Amino acid sequence: MDVSETIAPVKVRTNMADYDQAYADFKWQDVEKEFSWHETGKVNMAYEAIDRHAETWRKNKVALYYSDENRDEKYTFRDLKRLSNQFGNVLRNIGIEKGERVFLFMPRSPELYVSLLGILKNGSIVGPLFEAFMEQAVRDRLENSDASTLITTKELLPRVPYQELVHLNHIIIVGDAPDQVDETADIAFYSYEEEMKKASPQLDIEWVDREDGMILHYTSGSTGKPKGVLHVHNAMIQHYQTAKWVLDLQEDDIFWCTADPGWVTGTSYGIFGPWLNGASNLIRGGRFSPEDWYKTIETYGVTVWLSAPTAFRRLMAVGDNVAGEYDLSSLRHILSVGEPLNAEVVHWGMKVYQLRIHDHWWMTETGGMIIANYPSMELKPGSMGKPFPGIKAAILDDAGNELPPGQMGKLCIKAGWPSMLRGIWKNEERFKQYFPFEGWFESGDLASIDEDGYFWFEGRDDDVIQTSGERVGPFEVESKLVEHPAVAEAAVIGKPDPVRGEIIKAFVSLRDGYEKSDDLLEELRLFVKQGLAAHAAPREIEIREFLPKTRSGKIMRRVLKAWDLGLPTGDLSTMEE
Ligand code: WT7
Repeated sequence: MDVSETIAPVKVRTNMADYDQAYADFKWQDVEKEFSWHETGKVNMAYEAIDRHAETWRKNKVALYYSDENRDEKYTFRDLKRLSNQFGNVLRNIGIEKGERVFLFMPRSPELYVSLLGILKNGSIVGPLFEAFMEQAVRDRLENSDASTLITTKELLPRVPYQELVHLNHIIIVGDAPDQVDETADIAFYSYEEEMKKASPQLDIEWVDREDGMILHYTSGSTGKPKGVLHVHNAMIQHYQTAKWVLDLQEDDIFWCTADPGWVTGTSYGIFGPWLNGASNLIRGGRFSPEDWYKTIETYGVTVWLSAPTAFRRLMAVGDNVAGEYDLSSLRHILSVGEPLNAEVVHWGMKVYQLRIHDHWWMTETGGMIIANYPSMELKPGSMGKPFPGIKAAILDDAGNELPPGQMGKLCIKAGWPSMLRGIWKNEERFKQYFPFEGWFESGDLASIDEDGYFWFEGRDDDVIQTSGERVGPFEVESKLVEHPAVAEAAVIGKPDPVRGEIIKAFVSLRDGYEKSDDLLEELRLFVKQGLAAHAAPREIEIREFLPKTRSGKIMRRVLKAWDLGLPTGDLSTMEE
């Protein structure tokens, strides 16, 4: 990676004029003053995200543009206030209390967003599940959380083993009623539409403590059952400020976050951050397709667009002319998260969008953005950027000492940022493991910092390859591979080898128009050898039509490795079909 290349800001119209100044001056305490609860200490995320704006001139501003194949709707802040009040009353009428876990298992729809807000207004903890989960994944999460209530659809109900879930008492069905349900199970079924009709649009919001539970996001470890990561209402401080400075949201923006609310990006930045800032959110249901996505940007005049490297790589693989068929001139700011963003993709973005794609780093456990590229800052392609003001991030060695620039080590964050996880549900032991060094949270990622203070991702701690005494981060090799015109995506693993410790093996999917051949494999090997380093060149390359990914778009290196070595694959509940 070229750590010296920079790209100057483009189309700057920004909430944060100067990063260094902001980093020096900023205090989280000052952000709290922007919220109503600063005086009372009693808070509710849904109130701050929606009702607060519904009580100002923004009441008739569109908060949510929703569209999919069958629907095209708009909801103002006032509409969402009224509807979520009603849903809060639905839960209250049923007898659901503060702190109870209420889960959502349905495709994206306005009802999903209304329900989520209503759950929070009732003071309950919301657990969003991705619609593609199969029975085992649904069971694990509902069981572990002791969820009392589930909101789902007729289509998804067959994947819910409700007869066996002892704590589950209520199921609310959105849309058509199921043809039949097991009436011997001790479960009350309700129709969303019927209950909403009966519910008042006036609600006494449950004012909770800022440290009260708000949302549970399950994240899978490489082994064992998924972990329930608990976040509290206090996280709003971080959602608000990062949406302001990193998403750079302003009054007239139309913001599109492509992530599903089953993942933390889809709630922290698909819901909370933008609405806390009073911005208009666009939600597009359905699946990824390059034409549909570009059409969506054109139709709604999307100005700020947040997506993931896998999506950008797929858009790159279909060729630049597809982008040329749409009017994307409304875009002013693009962001990427969830996986390393190859420098090549940033260069491609400059070419086809004339905009920089702003990589940033965080994880389910951090609840909000931690390291980012900011619109006014020089961007280094391939780097994740710099720590958000108010946050200290560092590279530590195995003993917990800070490493100097240029050295790869554990990416750690000084504990105590506002949206930090507050627990792993029913697993205190696992929670403690995140804090192996006094006062530091350990992310499990390896990274380095350059002389200018930019952070560079190297790999997950367990993905790093030891070959002939050298430590190689898989991301660097993958990034080199995708620079080659034949390569769409690449995943690199270490394969045990008696002589070298490990050898580098690459799995590669090809772009349209390229065929597998021995010459091509040799060419790819040489390409890495000459472009990166001889020891980093893959000794084995396997061409695959698809690489295994999580549903949120992360390449699952551990699964490739397990397949390759014929070992058990561990938890696959988050893997794409
Ligand atoms: C892991 C967290 C970002 C929230 C949604 C995903 C990887 C995330 C980057 C990035 C390289 C990244 C890390 C991290 N990751 N962003 N910009 N560059 N890697 O949350 O599912 O909990 O995953 O995603 O490995 O630890 P998550």
